[in-house]
Amino acid sequence: MAIDAKGPGWGRRLLMCEPRFFTVAYEINPYMHVEVRPDPEGAMGQWAGLVGLLQQAGASIERLGPVEGLPDLVFTANAGFVQGGRFVASRFRHPERQAETAVDVAWARSQGYVVEEVPGKEPFEGAGDALPSGPRGVVLAGYRQRSSIQAHAGLSRLLGVPVRSVELVDERFYHLDLVFCPLDDRRAMVAGQGLDDYGCRVVRSLVPEPIWLEGSEAAAFCANSVVVGGVVVMPACPPRLGRALEAAGYEVAVAPVGEFLKAGGGCRCLTLALDVPAPPAVAPAPALWGSA
Ligand code: ARG
Repeated sequence: MAIDAKGPGWGRRLLMCEPRFFTVAYEINPYMHVEVRPDPEGAMGQWAGLVGLLQQAGASIERLGPVEGLPDLVFTANAGFVQGGRFVASRFRHPERQAETAVDVAWARSQGYVVEEVPGKEPFEGAGDALPSGPRGVVLAGYRQRSSIQAHAGLSRLLGVPVRSVELVDERFYHLDLVFCPLDDRRAMVAGQGLDDYGCRVVRSLVPEPIWLEGSEAAAFCANSVVVGGVVVMPACPPRLGRALEAAGYEVAVAPVGEFLKAGGGCRCLTLALDVPAPPAVAPAPALWGSA
């Protein structure tokens, strides 16, 4: 099923966390209502379905153990940002999620990652707000709703990669991965509804052939898809978008994740890419003066 030449060049090794303790116990985004609880069995079934489709597409899945009392731990996209052997841990904006960090960090250490933190105290919510995009090594990052723009500068210094910041202007799209889904070095799905004009210009400068989402497609979390080689695993795929993705050479697989939408998360939120390559080492500057 996988078509190797397609895709962003990362996203074949994913971290996921079984939703054994998943629920809606607090409200930190416009989708969460404590009186609308997800169905536990439904959530387990949908998660297993997503795992199956990702594996069929060629992804290998690594597991983070679920922890009682941390219902949003399932959204591993927010655990941190991984590049090469480095794991940049998240600093959550909301106290409700802050206890997740110790669990994420313990996992990363157990796997041999070098665990780091963005300098300062500003919030940074990991790959939910930071996605490699367009030219190799560039990271597109979202701010205002969760991560702060100051954290982006720190991320750039820490990893030695250019980070382009865009403001998330609509609270329905509170993480970057709800408005931006990189497909390959020319294309991405983009929900311009969640960005301002400047943000759309930044996206255009990185992605020459954006697939802009219509309002209903953005609202259905179509940008929250996982791209595994030539396969796009999506929470929903209206026909117009399916045709656009097919025309770009992609195969679509739909993984219904309605139980997770009750917590404001879709397919991408349930995964963290572990195989984002480190940027090419910078060649040492040529000596200007001979040593003799
Ligand atoms: N309930 C979670 C929160 O509000 C959902 C996280 C969704 N994750 C994402 N990467 N968009 O933080």
